Amino acid sequence: MNKVFIETYGCQMNVYDSELVLSILKKEGYELCGSIESADLILVNTCSIRENAEQRVWGRLDHFLQEKRKRQDLIVGVLGCMAERVKEKLLEHPVVNIVAGPDTYRTLPKMINDIRENAKQMNIQLSRHETYADITPVRTDKNGVSAFISIMRGCNNMCTYCIVPYVRGSERSRDPHSIVREAKELFEAGYREVNLLGQNVDSYLWVDPENPTNTTNFAQLIELVALISPKLRVRFSTSHPKDMGNGVLYSMAMYPNICSHIHLPVQSGSDRMLEKMNRKYDRAKYMERIHKIREIIPDAAITTDIIAGYCSETIEDHKATLSLMEEVKYDYAFMFQYSMRPNTYAARHFTDDVPLEEKTRRLNEIIELQNRHSLESNQKDVGKVFEVLVEGTSKKNKEELFGRTPGNKVCVFPACGHKAGDYVHVKVTGCTSATLLSEIVEQ
Ligand code: 5AD
Ligand code: SF4
Repeated sequence: MNKVFIETYGCQMNVYDSELVLSILKKEGYELCGSIESADLILVNTCSIRENAEQRVWGRLDHFLQEKRKRQDLIVGVLGCMAERVKEKLLEHPVVNIVAGPDTYRTLPKMINDIRENAKQMNIQLSRHETYADITPVRTDKNGVSAFISIMRGCNNMCTYCIVPYVRGSERSRDPHSIVREAKELFEAGYREVNLLGQNVDSYLWVDPENPTNTTNFAQLIELVALISPKLRVRFSTSHPKDMGNGVLYSMAMYPNICSHIHLPVQSGSDRMLEKMNRKYDRAKYMERIHKIREIIPDAAITTDIIAGYCSETIEDHKATLSLMEEVKYDYAFMFQYSMRPNTYAARHFTDDVPLEEKTRRLNEIIELQNRHSLESNQKDVGKVFEVLVEGTSKKNKEELFGRTPGNKVCVFPACGHKAGDYVHVKVTGCTSATLLSEIVEQ
């Protein structure tokens, strides 16, 4: 049997895609292996979102070259967003045999086969229809409790800084029946949490090709998944402030198994920056959405993404981001300094003019403030009781388990005979800025 080693960079969507690829290859007689030394085929599923994500992959390719020097028949393929963006230049690397964009994974077996005739293969065709709806991913996660499900692909938003629409193509929604089927199969296999993935889940819309009046929107989709079982937790990301309607919030409030957590990237607190980013909302509209979330789901955790040092960002713009953070008090945030991506609208029309040192300084200020807010948010949970889904044994202490609250906070607690996949109630006894310390209580 041929052995494949897959390395995945970037977002959760890429983790899901690697599982799809594995499923496609398994049918061709491949089996997953755990090291590059034992692999006949090495695949690296790549990310282009920031420059450093791409630099890491170039470093890995140089590393694979050492292995290839020992074994000439080793095949190396680059998949995903960077394959789509960098194209031929990747094929010029002496280790690379295959370059395959995110919509071409069905053709991988043929590409591997054709290598005998031509050592280099590239397919970067983007599709308006491919959702891989009929392919059941081979789950590579270790806990067997929580899994990702892709509900849509691509993005139509054209935020001026972002490479995603160029590398993942236009937005398309997946047939809800295939999503529910996949979630059901996971539940029957013992999984207790599904995380529905899309670049902008709020614009999910399925139009039945047989009967175009029959449609499913995102609020309806999460209800369909929640109805599989009250013991199946439903999470999703990413929400978009311009599209997140109240319907989703009401669905969340109605089903206790839809986790009360919303990841709502703000990117900046300055209206001038939001306009320049083409985010299609302003600060007031964003805050209106935050207030609505708090009104309909009072215990909701709210997390975000923030970019520091976008083109022409002034100290006032930066301060507006800090003041928005103070206003919202996010439970958690992913924070980045702006990284210019070639051929995006920003790269073509704006100057990346905030000096690197200043970007880093602003980012550090944002991180410091968020750390304070994360700690405060955790401190507020001390004394509260949460239902937690056990995911596994704590890394630091084998006698302890870890799991997540509905708000996605990691809890650790003494095992008391429980195991991964169980639901337990825990009382929070203490915290750090990253973890809730807790103990199991009878409910
Ligand atoms: N530079 C820095 N951060 C970026 N993001 C997207 N594009 C860039 C870029 N060019 C961030 C955004 C997005 C998250 C996934 O990555 O905050 O929400
Ligand atoms: Fe995911 Fe975006 Fe990276 Fe592509 S570029 S892998 S969509 S984070």
